[in-house]
Amino acid sequence: MININSPLPHEVVKFTEIEFTENGEPRSTKFDDVYFSDCGGMEESEHVFIDGCDLRERLRNRAQSGESSPVSDYLVGETGFGTGLNLLTLMNFHKRLQEEEKHSGSGIILPHVTFLSVEKYPLSPEVMKRAHSRFPNIGKESMELVEALSSKELFTGLNTYEINPEFTLQLMIGDITDCYSSVCTDRPVDSWFLDGFNPKSNCDMWSVQSMKILAELSSKGTNIATFTVCREVRDNLREAGFTLVKRKGFGRKREMLSGFIDSPLN
Ligand SMILES: C[S@@+](CC[C@H](N)C(=O)[O-])C[C@H]1O[C@@H](n2cnc3c(N)ncnc32)[C@H](O)[C@@H]1O
Repeated sequence: MININSPLPHEVVKFTEIEFTENGEPRSTKFDDVYFSDCGGMEESEHVFIDGCDLRERLRNRAQSGESSPVSDYLVGETGFGTGLNLLTLMNFHKRLQEEEKHSGSGIILPHVTFLSVEKYPLSPEVMKRAHSRFPNIGKESMELVEALSSKELFTGLNTYEINPEFTLQLMIGDITDCYSSVCTDRPVDSWFLDGFNPKSNCDMWSVQSMKILAELSSKGTNIATFTVCREVRDNLREAGFTLVKRKGFGRKREMLSGFIDSPLN
């Protein structure tokens, strides 16, 4: 069970305007940065976040261990929902992995996934749909997300969507520190996708204060992944209690970061 325990204002959200480049890439004018890499997008999301958090093994292990019966659940936390591309990539990956298991005859049923994310500058479902149109492989997932988001008004604070039988989206609208410090959950986050804009222009997404709040929602074994290996982010993650490992980056990026909690703060 996830809830927000705070007097955060409950107001209808005003969507943020963004621009699309000549190549159709969504770009934030506020942060002067792109929502995802111009060389890959979905492939980068899979490499950095899904492989970076070892989700192939971890989803399988959770299914086999039979935790939280009757239906096991895997809790992914994200910083920066943006266009929702990471969620769509994960939904698509989960579907492919389940098909693999079915064909192998393993009998494994992958866990349900709860995707908890935060966004201070939300995009409208129409803008998200336009951003997703670059990726025909996730057309079905995009349709499911856009339909769910269009089905009711978005408010500041916590918004819950049952996207399909395998995925629940819990989308918090507000600032990362206000939202995550107000989260009440009966279990730790299993994996974190850290996906702010460039730390130079978007420091609150990578601050030591934010990283400590994420660590408090974690436990021994929680892991993280991010595309950035910059010194300040590494220092802040270490100070918050994460042990870090550099891995091969995607495309032109030489390195990326994975990490895990070995001594929970709480
Ligand atoms: C790199 S984009 C995320 C891309 C996204 N994961 C996707 O799949 O499209 C970073 C996101 O963080 C959001 N953001 C920036 N500062 C924030 C803050 N202080 N609190 C919450 N969200 C923030 C931005 O609006 C943006 O949507």
